[in-house]
Amino acid sequence: MAVALITGASQGIGACIAERLAKDGFDVAINHFPSDSDKANAEKVAEACRSYGVKAELFAANVADYAQCEAMVKAVKEQLGSIDALVNNAGITKDGLLLRMSEEQYDAVIAVNQKSVFNMIKLVGAVMLRQKHGSIVSLASVAGLYGNPGQMNYSASKAAIVGMTKTAAKELGSRGITVNAVAPGFIKTAMTDALSDDVKNAMMKQVAMGRYGTPEEIASVVSFLCSSDASYVTGQTIEISGGLMM
Ligand code: NAI
Repeated sequence: MAVALITGASQGIGACIAERLAKDGFDVAINHFPSDSDKANAEKVAEACRSYGVKAELFAANVADYAQCEAMVKAVKEQLGSIDALVNNAGITKDGLLLRMSEEQYDAVIAVNQKSVFNMIKLVGAVMLRQKHGSIVSLASVAGLYGNPGQMNYSASKAAIVGMTKTAAKELGSRGITVNAVAPGFIKTAMTDALSDDVKNAMMKQVAMGRYGTPEEIASVVSFLCSSDASYVTGQTIEISGGLMM
């Protein structure tokens, strides 16, 4: 059975991607931040995944921490046998206008959103190179493509993912490994619920489809990129934004 590892899968888009990949027939490794509440949420996600008749196991790790990622990748291999798909979903925001943004706000977002992608692609890439196949999908954002006021840290981290995706695609492509990203626009989750009404209204005016996207609409594109239907797609960042910018 093929195995998918999804980071930050205890809620939101990551939880939805885990369920979708379970529905597609993957055994799923559900990474969650090491806290009691994340673990409890992740357990619910695992139960939903198991209802599709696949294995679903929890793996606690702060993905900003290389040593914790290393231990997690080893544990996934031991418990589930392989890693055929990796989804780098974990992410945070710590918004603030540039002149008010602290160094801590900047560094924290870069560590979780960007360095985690280095950690995970390096570690899982090594596993996939030995297997001679695999698909990697990372969650970028339209903020990384077009910028967004108040998100210097977040847009930097997500723009980096676009470049990291292309580099990894070039390094790993000849061994049958695809590396892609998706750039969601305005998706209804806890992350966007936290935005102010002013920001929400301003953003929604620019969406051609005039509505939020759903986590399921992100999961379906990730599912495609993890499937053999996308076997000749690599190095791409696919925008899923209802036509936010054209
Ligand atoms: P969310 O806040 O609902 O979920 C984020 C998940 O990441 C949570 O499960 C959280 O526990 C986990 N996480 C955070 N830090 C972690 C760490 N250090 N180690 C392990 N796990 C960690 O956010 P949402 O909306 O589901 O976002 C998922 C991804 O999609 C993120 O990368 C986000 O930047 C991206 N995205 C979301 C958009 C949206 O509109 N919601 C738009 C564009 C991109």
